[in-house]
Amino acid sequence: MDYLQINGGRKLGGTVTISGAKNAALPIIAATILSDRPVTLTNLPNVVDIRTLLKLLGMLGGEVAHDNTRAEINNGAINSTKAVYEIVSQMRASILVLGPLLARFGECEVSLPGGCAIGQRPIDLHLKALEAMGAHIEIKGGYVRAEAPEGLKGAKIIFDKITVGGTENIVMAAALAHGTTTILNAAKEPEVVQLCEMIRDAGVTIEGIGTSELRIEGTGGEPLHFKEVEIIPDRIEAGTYLCAGAITGSSITLEKVDAGHIRASIDKLESMGCSFDIEGDKITIHPAETIRPVNLITTEYPGFPTDMQAQFMAVATMAEGESLIEERLFENRFMHVSELNRLGADIWLKGSTAAVKGVDKLYGADVMATDLRASSALVLAALVAEGTTNVRRIYHLDRGYDDLEGKLSKLGADIVRKSGK
Ligand code: EPZ
Repeated sequence: MDYLQINGGRKLGGTVTISGAKNAALPIIAATILSDRPVTLTNLPNVVDIRTLLKLLGMLGGEVAHDNTRAEINNGAINSTKAVYEIVSQMRASILVLGPLLARFGECEVSLPGGCAIGQRPIDLHLKALEAMGAHIEIKGGYVRAEAPEGLKGAKIIFDKITVGGTENIVMAAALAHGTTTILNAAKEPEVVQLCEMIRDAGVTIEGIGTSELRIEGTGGEPLHFKEVEIIPDRIEAGTYLCAGAITGSSITLEKVDAGHIRASIDKLESMGCSFDIEGDKITIHPAETIRPVNLITTEYPGFPTDMQAQFMAVATMAEGESLIEERLFENRFMHVSELNRLGADIWLKGSTAAVKGVDKLYGADVMATDLRASSALVLAALVAEGTTNVRRIYHLDRGYDDLEGKLSKLGADIVRKSGK
């Protein structure tokens, strides 16, 4: 099993190019099921989760030609509507095929994703909304079996909770439904916006894109014909490199980034003493002389993202004073706390809040990655820790960070991938 070996203490510098957003690419790949013609996607991140979802399309009978950042997908010949456990258990975002498969074929079977390291992550809101659109849903043998032989019907959906994946599934389902679907309390994340724009550019009328109220006029079962889609920059990858600059006290320039999507992270880093130059699609971070503590609460976009919570916690370990970090989205997203403490951090957990007392130094140790963002927090901490840190179980990182060690090495970090235990 691969691990990352990092010798901390190096200053970083230079420019890093941000890849396409994994969490935008996944629903967009799922949305290609709504079409029976070839679709081209560009600026895909070169990460495992993308390959997993493309593999699933292949298993359904789709034709996929994938070359690092570009994929040509033809779902004209799909001959199966079953998303098997083998794939869904590897990546819970596979649930995103539920809406489009049901909308296009009137039936599908998708393995229930189950919980994961960051929480229970139920899909009840996806299912309730599809039922409101006329689907008959049954859970049997670990699979969601959904049927709507006459097609889905437009409906008024009010999500009890804001859900990114739920909004995406229902937007895709609504695109081929009969009549108009209104979604209230919809997610407004940039990834949801890009999915809506892709569907709108295929001729579907969608009002309210980027707001919490979406109105979608379905085609009544007619498949869509998509234009080429260039995936938006990954705002979480970008935020992670800003944190790399902040924690190592280095000036780093990010290119191919959308500053508008990472305002919450920039704002918090400014309150910690960092400053920024923003020009077009480039952002340069200038580090703080001494890092000030931060108080943050994770919430839905445009608030502070849960996917940046672990990385900010790593930066807060180096602050002068105590930071308070509250996780409101996932009940178990603090697995990195004990690993950061193994590096010498001083973090106390009480319920959903972590109190992080800044320390003078972190010290290299063997640590274990537990989920994607927790893993990147450990890498950030290792960049400043004295001595050598081995970050194990980095298959989590490979799911969502495109060439993390290559990009950090180019910035001057002493980081290598090794194989072995
Ligand atoms: C997406 O997950 C992202 N994944 C996550 O990124 C991200 O952390 C999350 O949104 C929140 O921003 C992808 O886009 C592929 P949700 P998703 O449905 O859609 C509860 C990463 O590191 N909920 O918005 O699964 C849920 O348990 C990943 O890249 C229900 O109760 O998240 C959570 O508490 C991790 N019932 C909250 O809503 C439901 O039916 C928000 O979840 C659905 C969700």
